Amino acid sequence: MSQRVLTTESGAPVADNQNSATAGVGGPLLLQDQHLLEKLARFNRERIPERVVHARGSGAYGHFEVTDDVTDFTHADFLSEVGRRTEVFVRFSTVADSLGGADAVRDPRGFAVKFYTGEGNYDLVGNNTPVFFIKDPVKFPDFIHSQKRDPFTGRQEPDNVWDFWAHSPEATHQVTWLMGDRGIPASYRHMNGYGSHTYQWTNSRGEAFFVKYHFKTNQGIRSLSSEQAAEIAGKDPDSHQTDLLQAIERGVHPSWTLHVQLMPAAEAADYRFNPFDLTKVWPHADYPLRRVGRLVLDRNPDNVFAEVEQAAFSPNNFVPGIGPSPDKMLQGRLFAYADAHRYRLGVNHTLLAVNAPKATTARNYGRDGLMASNPQGRYAKNYEPNSYDGPVETGRPLSAPLAVSGHTGTHEAPAHTKDDDFFQAGELYRLMSAEERSRLVANIAGGLSRVSRDDVIEKNLAHFHAADPEYGRRVEEAVHALRED
Ligand code: HEM
Repeated sequence: MSQRVLTTESGAPVADNQNSATAGVGGPLLLQDQHLLEKLARFNRERIPERVVHARGSGAYGHFEVTDDVTDFTHADFLSEVGRRTEVFVRFSTVADSLGGADAVRDPRGFAVKFYTGEGNYDLVGNNTPVFFIKDPVKFPDFIHSQKRDPFTGRQEPDNVWDFWAHSPEATHQVTWLMGDRGIPASYRHMNGYGSHTYQWTNSRGEAFFVKYHFKTNQGIRSLSSEQAAEIAGKDPDSHQTDLLQAIERGVHPSWTLHVQLMPAAEAADYRFNPFDLTKVWPHADYPLRRVGRLVLDRNPDNVFAEVEQAAFSPNNFVPGIGPSPDKMLQGRLFAYADAHRYRLGVNHTLLAVNAPKATTARNYGRDGLMASNPQGRYAKNYEPNSYDGPVETGRPLSAPLAVSGHTGTHEAPAHTKDDDFFQAGELYRLMSAEERSRLVANIAGGLSRVSRDDVIEKNLAHFHAADPEYGRRVEEAVHALRED
């Protein structure tokens, strides 16, 4: 049959793709019209559940190249020699809105990198912000509910957004970040990426380091003002997608330089604040940036649904030499993502080309389930141990063990001497130029002044006062001025 013949899904030629089969001219449709039934039924099944957060996104392929020796700190194979290249897939995203939203909005951006390494896929699922709003995963569903659409009004409600923050002083740092200039990136190319959490690296001698990742954009940081963003969001809701797609198609390949901060594991317990607290950065004066390599994106996916919508990134996809820290938020995420993938994409989502290892082969005894395709082959046993040369464990842990002590319970994180929720928010404010501070204050006041309850406003103002007296005073004045209007 010629390549140009249209077929049904079972491969039979289609006689007519313009007219459905009817009982006589002008009569009702026939149930025997397989082509029509298949087309309509398949269409009904095109959508799958969108990601519960980070639903809108754009992706691209490329590579990561090691530029500096880090073998003193990790034995991860893909970082083991200068010049080593590893294929990557990156998905950028906004967080709060659903698939139909706009790109140019004030929201953190996701920055998820899948390294297809020879020792399995390593997923670094970060954001464009070095910190986050909360520090315990038990608060995550409540936090996201407060930021997404209200179940009754069906709208994002300033009352909910600010009410959650009123009860979450630990969010002050990230709120300051989000309401500042970097809160609306001009495009995915013009923002940094951060692992945000503290992770653990282990070297070949078994020595452990805690590590934070920073991807610095080589395009320069560019941001939009609230007014510019509102205009762009109206004109081209897909502005970030347009920018990334067109840049790569034009041969303008965006790149980021990866740096890390490294803390010897023994220093963590006595550091002046909890180094696993996701609402805090590590000052560079304490732990300077060390360059590792370069991330380059140079190929657009052929099919957005197959490769971007069905991409599955999970923070618990580690490779030897890299592992988790005791950061509670990270620990919660180690469960949440693969669980979401089983719901959203099914138990065999790792068989999809974008999610499958590319530089090695997955070999295990997981079998069957929806959409299984038996990649193990005819004679592979589905149990272990076996006498048939099936795959066996290595006996080598992927990363160094984490020390623990005490009793089980719903504890707060261990106390350090400087654990307060406001200091770094104040530092960020004081780092800003006069114009930046004014824009920050205006952005906060624009949202906070729309809140209906005075007590919620007062609680939020108290956080800004605690961060920096000038910051608090200016936000308070701006909110009161707007409410008197
Ligand atoms: C996506 C949960 C915190 C970055 C998701 C998804 C879930 C989730 C369920 C959708 C996954 C999917 O359907 O594929 C959580 C929970 C968190 C948390 C429970 C806290 C306990 C964070 C933090 C960051 C982050 C702190 C960044 C540092 C991302 C990114 C995506 C995502 C980038 C999109 C991944 C992609 O492009 O497919 N999160 N998240 N999340 N999350 Fe989180």
